[in-house]
Amino acid sequence: MINSMSFSLKNKVVLVTGSTDGLGKLLVQELARQGAQVIVHGRDAAKVGQLVKHLNEINSKENQSVVCDLNKPEEVGKAFGAIETLDVLINNAGVWEEGDTENVTPERIIELVNVNLASYLLTFRTLLPVLQKSGFSQVLNVISVAGYEVPIDYYHTIYSATKYGLQGFTEATAKEFFNKNLRVMGFYPGGMETRLFKKAGIEYEDKEPWMFPPQESVEAILFMLTRNPKVSVKRMDFINQLEK
Ligand SMILES: NC(=O)c1ccc[n+]([C@@H]2O[C@H](COP(=O)([O-])OP(=O)(O)OC[C@H]3O[C@@H](n4cnc5c(N)ncnc54)[C@H](OP(=O)(O)O)[C@@H]3O)[C@@H](O)[C@H]2O)c1
Repeated sequence: MINSMSFSLKNKVVLVTGSTDGLGKLLVQELARQGAQVIVHGRDAAKVGQLVKHLNEINSKENQSVVCDLNKPEEVGKAFGAIETLDVLINNAGVWEEGDTENVTPERIIELVNVNLASYLLTFRTLLPVLQKSGFSQVLNVISVAGYEVPIDYYHTIYSATKYGLQGFTEATAKEFFNKNLRVMGFYPGGMETRLFKKAGIEYEDKEPWMFPPQESVEAILFMLTRNPKVSVKRMDFINQLEK
């Protein structure tokens, strides 16, 4: 018989960046169901407000919000600096880009670096003193299989660069905070059925054979976050292994 030593997220304060859509939106709803106090983040104040209202109905708590365009890195410190208590930081916001690099504009490259990479570093740096006030805190970075392997039949070079950067950041922070009551983990999913691609102007089907439902990732992330503080699912590669 397994003696479950799992860790409860009830009453923990959890921030998810990019939680107005896709994986992040499903994640905050599940966190609210588990009794966490959620901090929603998005760039659209109306979308953020609506979601917070919905979460308040789920868990009867005063869930909070941060509105910040992550493509403006100079605004991250002020926007996220208003958070006073935090137990779990889930960095999740991201934008997609694929195709020949010669067709990617410099502005778009900067946007990918800002949103996919710099925002993870900056939210972490801004919130580190707050996380350190928690008895046991966690940082989970949503990365991608693109953060550890390069596809052979097409390219998303700039996206790969940002996600490989996140792998380095996550591995380095996990080492830096080893044995310091701050658990740092990396989640590396394959293709998910979200609007990530459509927002980048790529017309994939809603359910391509190489995708899986983002709800699967929610369950995997919840598993990682609820392990006993003594152990760490330091990284999880979460792939589609039945492409049909
Ligand atoms: N879908 C996949 O196949 C897949 C695979 C591997 C990894 N991932 C990663 O998983 C994470 C979640 O992606 P998803 O698939 O759930 O896509 P999604 O539905 O498009 O969600 C991305 C989130 O990031 C937010 N965001 C984008 N640009 C922003 C900006 N400038 N400022 C603030 N927020 C911004 C979006 O806000 P809006 O709601 O305003 O658009 C949205 O909430 C990303 O890091 C992505 O790279 C996705």
